[in-house]
Amino acid sequence: MKNSKNIILIGDGAIGSSFAFNCLTSGIGRSIGIIDINMKRVQGDVEDLSDALPYISQQNIYAANYSDCRYADLIVITAGIPQRPGQTRLELLQKNAAIVKDICNQITNSGFDGIILLASNPVDILTELVVQTTGLPRNKVLGSGTALDSARLRSEISQRFNVDARSVSGYILGEHGDSEFPVWDYTAIGGKPIKQWIPEQRQEAMLNEIADSVKNSAYSIIEQKGATFYGIAASLTRITAAILHNDLSPFAMSIHLNGEYGLSDVSIGVPAIIGANGLDRIIELDLNETDMKKLCDSAKVLKESFKSIQ
Ligand code: 2OP
Repeated sequence: MKNSKNIILIGDGAIGSSFAFNCLTSGIGRSIGIIDINMKRVQGDVEDLSDALPYISQQNIYAANYSDCRYADLIVITAGIPQRPGQTRLELLQKNAAIVKDICNQITNSGFDGIILLASNPVDILTELVVQTTGLPRNKVLGSGTALDSARLRSEISQRFNVDARSVSGYILGEHGDSEFPVWDYTAIGGKPIKQWIPEQRQEAMLNEIADSVKNSAYSIIEQKGATFYGIAASLTRITAAILHNDLSPFAMSIHLNGEYGLSDVSIGVPAIIGANGLDRIIELDLNETDMKKLCDSAKVLKESFKSIQ
């Protein structure tokens, strides 16, 4: 049955299973079907997650197949090989493009007509690949983009300034990767612009430190524990809630641009309002010249890499 908050998760690795657990505990969906090339692992996860239901709420969790996608409202894709220590996300492109393309073909064959939320890396280029392979309208294809990096920015600021991370607003834009950047003009704590919290002589150094720490966060986590999964799982869960409950919440997400920010034919992290239609609106920030250039440079990196998909 449609419109009953049916989620299909494709990719049951560390990110996928953390997302499934987070979704179940948040009670935001009614049903989660899981697909992976390793269906034995899926069956194990289904049994393990089902054991948690008596302590959460009644929900349907099951091992799915591609024909189940037809009845899904939302498909969350986390499949693909993960980054190894020292590896950039762009280095995963060829292998993960083949995996995502195959998944898209199977989804399309199922008759699916819902929203796709993609987290597989390099997420921006693969989001563009999903747009082009499925032919779905752009509002239905969302990449997790810089939603996680924006959360990392807010978390880093909350720790440095000793405030609730939820009171920090701000975005990282561009590629979810090495060419990403923060928009300081739109970063604030409790509504007060970040620059007004830092003495002028220390501003530049501190803002650069924060930006570097956010950009290198995944490298640092992967170096220490082999993978990142809780941060991205929480980002995906929150975006899933916004879609299934029509929250109309803002996130920096990888969206296919049609002229916004002067860019076209690229999916890249920009702020957007997310609700039941997926993308509801793109938020066009009035970027200063430096940030506009950074966004264009980042788009160039993504367009070049997209061309290299075999
Ligand atoms: C992250 O940023 C690896 O893209 C993943 O955590």
